[in-house]
Amino acid sequence: MKKQIEKVKREKNAVILAHYYAPSEVQEIADYVGDSFYLAKIAKQSTADIIVFCGVSFMGESAKILNPGKKVFMPDLTADCAMAHMVAPGIIEQMRAKYQDLAVVCYINSTAELKCQSDVCVTSSNAVKIVRELPNQNIFFIPDRNLGRFVAQQVPEKNIILNEGCCPIHARMTADQVKNEKNKHPHAHVLSHPECEEPVLALSDFIGSTADIISFAKTSDASEFIVCTEVGVDYKLINDNPDKRFYFPEPHPCCADMKLNTLESVLSVLEQEDRVVEVPEEICRRAMIPLDRMLELAK
Ligand code: 13P
Ligand code: SF4
Repeated sequence: MKKQIEKVKREKNAVILAHYYAPSEVQEIADYVGDSFYLAKIAKQSTADIIVFCGVSFMGESAKILNPGKKVFMPDLTADCAMAHMVAPGIIEQMRAKYQDLAVVCYINSTAELKCQSDVCVTSSNAVKIVRELPNQNIFFIPDRNLGRFVAQQVPEKNIILNEGCCPIHARMTADQVKNEKNKHPHAHVLSHPECEEPVLALSDFIGSTADIISFAKTSDASEFIVCTEVGVDYKLINDNPDKRFYFPEPHPCCADMKLNTLESVLSVLEQEDRVVEVPEEICRRAMIPLDRMLELAK
């Protein structure tokens, strides 16, 4: 199947992008593997005729918005991020009415419609930098309360208003689960994604995006790590560091939507070109503004 994917990909001048949470065998055949920020930049720059995005819908949508002339496909169009929808209707307007200088800062893990109502997008790898650089004092951070709180701690000079959204997979990890792993591996360093709840982050030696966690593990002198993010990152962690050991809280945090990207679905979408990511032109035009602003401010 891998050979067949390679062949069709070449014939059609297609490129395969995969997030670190995609299954290992999909990361293995992908042309680019990375965190949300890296993949958004790759999608924007791509000169391939076809982009196959192995992630969840906000990633496919962002690729289409950033590069609207391209045909963007997803192996499974039902792969969605639960958090992307967690903003109550009308709340953005309410906040704008309350604070005159408000900036609506939208985590890229959000629907295209939410991006349209926002001033700037961020990912977990650039949120702190971008919020710090905004001229606005009042920030409404949507949809993730955990990333929002993490940013608020790093940028105490701003008034950051949190929204009640979260990633169910990251929010499920508990401090007790991390402590259990710590008891089993007392020398292990704890590396966490900022989507985790505060009690987990409080136990962490390092907090960062998936790409940041991967580069921290590589350069760290430690040889054992407890990793508090989706278990798909273990493919890159183990490949990069065959002599180091990685443990995840039990039960392992697994994003079922990311796992809908299989070799079978990648091959069939390449062959059939049927699972097109469609974003209405007007939404594309409006959502491109905060996404482009993110790319600019993150430089
Ligand atoms: P990254 O910003 O590290 O890619 O994280 C995306 C994500 O979905 C985390 O759950
Ligand atoms: Fe969304 Fe959480 Fe899955 Fe990331 S791990 S894609 S935030 S549901």
